[in-house]
Parts: sequence; C-alpha cells; structure tokens
Amino acid sequence: MFDLVKDILSFNADGRPVVVRGWVRTKRELKNLVFIEVNDGSCFSSIQCTFDKTPFGKTPASREMGAVDAVLSALGTGASIEIKGNLVRSPANGQKSEVSAKDIRLIGDAEAYPLQKKRHSFEFLREIAHLRPRTNTFGAVARVRSGLAYAVHEFFQKRSFQYVHTPIITANDAEGAGSMFQVTTLDMEKIARDGGKPVDFQADFFGGKTFLTVSGQLEAETYATALSRVYAFGPTFRAEHSNTARHLAEFWMIEPEAAFMDLNDTMELAEDFLKALFTYALKNCGEDLAFFDAHVEKGVIAALESVVHAKFTHSTYTAAVRELERNADAFEFKPFWGCDLQSEHEKFLTEEIAHGPVIVTDYPKEIKAFYMKMNDDEKTVRAMDVLVPRLGEIIGGSQREEHGAKLEKRMAELGMNTERYRWYLDLRRFGTVPHSGFGMGFERLVQYVTGMANIRDVIPYPRAVGSAEF
Ligand code: 4AD
Ligand code: MG
Repeated sequence: MFDLVKDILSFNADGRPVVVRGWVRTKRELKNLVFIEVNDGSCFSSIQCTFDKTPFGKTPASREMGAVDAVLSALGTGASIEIKGNLVRSPANGQKSEVSAKDIRLIGDAEAYPLQKKRHSFEFLREIAHLRPRTNTFGAVARVRSGLAYAVHEFFQKRSFQYVHTPIITANDAEGAGSMFQVTTLDMEKIARDGGKPVDFQADFFGGKTFLTVSGQLEAETYATALSRVYAFGPTFRAEHSNTARHLAEFWMIEPEAAFMDLNDTMELAEDFLKALFTYALKNCGEDLAFFDAHVEKGVIAALESVVHAKFTHSTYTAAVRELERNADAFEFKPFWGCDLQSEHEKFLTEEIAHGPVIVTDYPKEIKAFYMKMNDDEKTVRAMDVLVPRLGEIIGGSQREEHGAKLEKRMAELGMNTERYRWYLDLRRFGTVPHSGFGMGFERLVQYVTGMANIRDVIPYPRAVGSAEF
C-alpha cells in the first residue's frame, strides 16, 4: 500500500522520493515559492510541500513547469491532489521535514469549498457534517474515537471477556423506562386512514411489537451465565426528549457482564477500565490530545493523567445526598433523599467535593431499573454510577437480582409483563449465579477524553430529538 502522510512524516528526511496524496489545507505563495499544506487525516499534522518556481532554483521543479504552474495557480483549498517530490529537512520552524515538490496532479477540484482557514463554529460544522472530518478538530475526534474503540476491545479481550453481538431489534424494554423507538413495517398512512380501528400488531413484520434496543444487557446476561465473562459494544437507541449536551438518541454503549462478580468486583472493573482507556489515549493519541488541550479544553491532558493515578472516591447515594443537602444553596434543583441526581449535583460531587471521579452506590430502588439486586433494607439497590468532572454520569451498572422469586416480585410491583421476560427469568431457574455488569456510553467517554463540550460533536452523524440529517 502507498505511504500515508503519517508514514512519510516518520521517515528520515534524506532526500528520498515520496508521493503525497491528500487534500489541500492551505496554499501560500512567497516570491517564487509555493507552499501547499496537504492533509490526509492519517494523523493530525499536514505535510508541507514546497514548489520552487525559480527557473534555475536550487530545487528545480518539474521540467514541465508550465503544466505544474497551471495546476498550482488554479489550486484551491479542499482539492484532492497527488504530489511527487523528495523528502528533505525543513528549513522552516515547526516541522522536521517537508517535500521538495517536483510534480503535482490535480485529482479532484473543489470549487467554493465551505471550509476555509478561519475557525468555524461547531454549530456551523454540524450543518456540514459530511465535511467536518476534514477539519483539525473533527479529524482529531475521529482518530481518538477509533483509538478508544480499539482500546475497549483490547481491555476486555486481555481479561478473557468474550465479545457478544446483542440484537438491535428487540421486543423487550431492557431498562423498563419506556423510551423506545418502535420498529414496524405497518403502513402508517393506511392506519391513519383506518382511523380508530385497533392496530393489528400480529400482522407486523415480526408478528408483534418490536423496538430498537435501549441496552444489550439482558441478552448479555444470558451469555455471561454461559461464558462467564462477556461484553457487548454496539449501538443503542433512546427516544428521550432530552435536548442536552450529553444525550443522543443513538449512541454506542459498552456493556461488560460477568458471572460470579458482585458489585465491588464490577466497580473495580469499571475503575480499571477507565484508567486503561485514558492510559491508552495518553500513550497513543498524544498529537490529537495536545490539540484538544491547547484549543478545546485547557487541562484535559492533566485531568486524564490525574485520574489514571488517583483512587476513585466512593460514596453511597445516601451519604452523597446528605452532602448535597448541606450545600442546598448551590443548586437550582434542591436535593432530597429519593431524587434522581441532577447534572448540577453530579458536577458538585465530582468537582467541588471529590475533585475527581466518584462512584455512587446503593441508590433508591424507585429511580433504578427493575433488574438490580435489592439490598437488605428493601429500599435501595446494588447500583453504582461512575461520575466524572465536567460530564457527570459516564458509567451506570449494578449487581443483578439473581433470585428468581425476588426479581419476579419486583417486576410485578412495577407492572411489568413477566410473561414477556420468561427467558430472562429462566436464567434464575437454571443454574443462577450472582452476576454484575455496567454500561458506559462510548460518546461520553470520547467527550471526556477530548474535552469536547457537546456530545453531538463526538459522533460522526448525531441523532437527537428533531434532527437526523445525513
Ligand atoms: O445508565 P444506563 O441507562 O444503563 C444501562 O443501560 C444499563 N443496561 C447498563 C448495564 O448495566 N449494562 O446507561 C449506561 C450509560 C450511561 O452511564 C451513559 O454513559 C450512557 O450509557 N447513556 C447515554 N449516552 C448518550 N446519550 C444517551 N441518551 C445516554 N443514555 C445513557
Ligand atoms: Mg444511568
């Protein structure tokens, strides 16, 4: 395969011939010199290609200077090109090597290219989401995202967790929260015309109501109680009307699930997991992180480093609420025992109290999902959320109720149709074991690592309430 800019920049600048392929970031002219910055997205840096148009210059350009000159003068930002030349030491500051260019071939012109040298707002770039990966910021986000996905697999594979592909279309509400997108092939317009008649879901594609999954957890549990340790990593969907900087309607979730693990084991796993991912990013995404640190969120590198070295703070929900109540003046939403922690509360706990990540455990059962293991107090469940500064919740997990009768009782209390979950309850009938797991929103992770403020800017094509363009 041909060399990428990333490869070429790692070579010795010993005059070797090189071929650069990519997109023009900038073109500058200075007397007889033409400087072209070429970026191919393989790394943050662009490569500088310098044409010397002096007829008898020290670095004579192509013999067909006329043809080269014609391409150079018409060349605009965004065009795709191929440049041939020699890799030499760069006389300029800021780069080790550059290409002493001899020949250029225009591959694809770019007329009235919307991305110019100036800084564009992230809002504007969302409107041209198909072009934004060509900017410094979104190229860097894409590379960090890819690196982190790799690190996720590496982390679990090394610990003998098997990767399971849980279904995307499902008949079950895994969180029991009722915020699912319905999947149907029924003709909506006909249903509207038939106005008032009950809808026959048996005639639907799957012979019953189906939805996009909100979590692969329940199916992951079935595999964990067969393979011991598994993880899911796939898209999940939530039809929540939360128009915030940390919610998407379509996001990717990583869900490890392990048999014979209790809540403490799963908290330890979550802490190791985050530390391993941050370590990976610090080690392998340095150039991109340096950019985020300088231009997006000052101190993001130091924050990652400090998390890697710190022990996470632990607190029960009850203790956390007591602490919040003591500081009630600081909040718009006054905290009380039983309330769902608001983002301002999570921020306070991590930024003002712990100065780092906090794992909150033992939440009231009313604000958590049906499958969580009940504590002896019958009021709280074996739940844990990992909260981080800036973002709040990054991970949510729990020990699962492995006792069939208790689980069924809880589901009945919540008015759930236990018949539909027969297969799930079966796990508690046939060789039940204590088991635990958690879910991490992949975009929240990418947000934390890059410092990007809005979750819509860390996924290529964000889907949120009212918008699913591209
Ligand atoms: O806390 P949640 O809802 O937990 C579950 O879905 C469990 N079934 C996970 C498990 O135990 N296997 O979601 C888990 C994580 C959250 O901590 C958050 O990081 C992310 O998923 N998340 C979202 N990310 C982006 N947009 C949304 N709308 C999200 N909802 C949850
Ligand atoms: Mg949660």
